[in-house]
Amino acid sequence: MPLSDGRLGQYVADGRRAEIQSRVSSLLEQMTLEEKVGQLNQRSVHFVTGTEDEGAALESAVADGEVGSLLNATDLETKRHLQQLAVEESRLGIPLLIGFDVIHGYETIFPIPLAQAASWNPDLAERAERIAATEAAAAGHNWTFAPMVDVSRDPRWGRVMEGAGESPVLGSAFAEARVRGFQGEDLSDPDTVLACAKHFAAYGAVEGGREYNTVNVSETALRERHLPPFEASVQAGVGSLMNAFNVHERIPASGHESLVDGVLKGDWDFSGVLVSDWASFREQIQHGTATDRREAARKAIEAGSDIDMASEVVIDELPGLVREGDISEERLDDAVRRVLTVKGLLGLFEDPYRYFDAERREEAMLADEHREAAREAACESFVLLQNEGDRLPLDPEADVALVGALADSGEDTLGAWSFEGRPEDAITVREGLESFLDRAVPFAPGYELPGEVTEASIEAAVETATDADVAVTVVGETAAITGEAASRADIDLPGHQRRLVEALAETDTPVVAVLMNGRPLAIDWLAESVPAILDVWHPGVEGGPAVAETLFGEHVPAGHLPMSFPSSVGQVPLAHDRLPTGRPAEDAESGYTTGYIDAPNEPLFAFGHGQSYTGFAYTDLTLSTDAIDAGETLEATVTVENVGDVAGRDVVQFYVRDLVGSRSRPEKELLDFETVELAPGERADVPITIEDTDLAFWTADREWAAEPGEFDLMVGHAADDIAHTERFALLE
Ligand code: NOJ
Repeated sequence: MPLSDGRLGQYVADGRRAEIQSRVSSLLEQMTLEEKVGQLNQRSVHFVTGTEDEGAALESAVADGEVGSLLNATDLETKRHLQQLAVEESRLGIPLLIGFDVIHGYETIFPIPLAQAASWNPDLAERAERIAATEAAAAGHNWTFAPMVDVSRDPRWGRVMEGAGESPVLGSAFAEARVRGFQGEDLSDPDTVLACAKHFAAYGAVEGGREYNTVNVSETALRERHLPPFEASVQAGVGSLMNAFNVHERIPASGHESLVDGVLKGDWDFSGVLVSDWASFREQIQHGTATDRREAARKAIEAGSDIDMASEVVIDELPGLVREGDISEERLDDAVRRVLTVKGLLGLFEDPYRYFDAERREEAMLADEHREAAREAACESFVLLQNEGDRLPLDPEADVALVGALADSGEDTLGAWSFEGRPEDAITVREGLESFLDRAVPFAPGYELPGEVTEASIEAAVETATDADVAVTVVGETAAITGEAASRADIDLPGHQRRLVEALAETDTPVVAVLMNGRPLAIDWLAESVPAILDVWHPGVEGGPAVAETLFGEHVPAGHLPMSFPSSVGQVPLAHDRLPTGRPAEDAESGYTTGYIDAPNEPLFAFGHGQSYTGFAYTDLTLSTDAIDAGETLEATVTVENVGDVAGRDVVQFYVRDLVGSRSRPEKELLDFETVELAPGERADVPITIEDTDLAFWTADREWAAEPGEFDLMVGHAADDIAHTERFALLE
């Protein structure tokens, strides 16, 4: 397995590569069949804290070399104790990989990943993961099950909060950045952890947005939409990938040979390790593609999956399968070699305790600079969805009333998947506002979480708002109705929050909405009821101060949506890169055009949408040439001017349309983006470079290639707000 190809190999110092490889080979020679299989067995540690028997059983399995990795361990001493058993009691003393879901921070919780993607600033995500890795590694973890790089265009799916939204281009940029952030410079540094791109593949396409459901995507959609962020992660040297729960072409991903062995380990030559999702090897039985545990283990290992997370079919069945010749020793050795190699990269053979350091842990957790980074990340992730009459920013001298239980909830400020984050460490919107204004702010919860109201709760809220100059109402989703196993069929505000907002809107006090959410919501009524909506997602531990700074204009919002907000749930799935149809909606003279009779085709807020307290104008989109040959590049430049009164950051979005292809091509799709900071009146030229490979797609010949022809390059403020278009050609 090559460590010298500059991908995974870049995370190890030159001198150590050969050493790791020879250590791995020598271990493999010494290992019994059972010891090899033990390396492929991953166990969950919550059993240690479960019954005494379960704890003792896990301890003896580790001491006997029957466990290669752990997940779900929280307590530092438990982790150290189990590592010690592996190193000191097992025959070959092979240390454990210790994995954990570090999804948007460890103790310093950052904004949810979807929010981070709204910054369109991959450097921000890299920095967030660097900090997350520093904290997780100081707490005994050497592996994180992140980043989730699933592309999704269905906000009903609760897990969209973990990803980067609907675009494979934006998703790939964030995938690479996150991998670099976790893995740092050198995986053996004590502040880096092995990353895991998940869930391979197409989990974001679960039908109806229903969790764990069937996926039914074409090969074209798989190649163009779902695989690119995984390939980008592999190119960035990610050390591990995780199987998806779903089927692809009706074959469960864990046992999908052409996906795993063919694409991942074949075409992409992935040299890291592939772990199952929780019990997904065994779940082939429930999918109806394996009769029993033995067949489930065989199909998964044969397909090229390596580690069995929690289903224990591998530890029970693989020795027999190898002895009877149903799985080759070569395949077993390949899987084990991958596991041992990542252990070598992490420096575990030299010092298996390098990730346990109480002093470093003490210094790292919630360090001032970590909180500061979390606050900046929160600010950058906020999206100003609308701001009629420049209602925002607010005047700090104004009498502000605050309404909405979410404003007072630490847990929901953090968001889902924040296991080691403590609600009491989160600064809520209420606390943030009061500390910014240095005074008490009249507050009424208005609803009980997630959204129940009573006549009395609405009355109290209306009364609180009535005397104020402006009412800030914080509405949206609790963390618990987002994330894994939290699909929603109705993506409006939960409960009766709408009744509260409508009652507030009837007062004479202007109302500004702060939206906390883990997914795009269908809230056209909200957009009609209030003049201003600031989307702050689940903003993390420093959410409150970031919201206050933004509401009062100390920070100028610059986030843009990484995922379309539908105007009604019936439009879902929808995304900016839709295909044309034979009956374009614009051909109005016939009634037989694409659309609904009871809803628009367009989203409420489009992909890329996001307002500012200033404005940006685009002029002079120029191309360095109007035709390129394969292998040549074209430079496109647009002049951006800050035409408002305050300094601000703009996200310049470039979209492309391939006019004629062997397959129908999207009406527009994101091609590239750049961010630029400008003072009032300042102008800058923003260039991008286009290569023919940027125009490639999965052609009718079933290959990844750019086809000669004409292309429209568009520059815009959002997918539905294109300022200029220029045409160029790719020559034969
Ligand atoms: C199931 C989830 O799908 C996966 O993302 C996670 O990493 C594992 N559980 C482990 O917690």
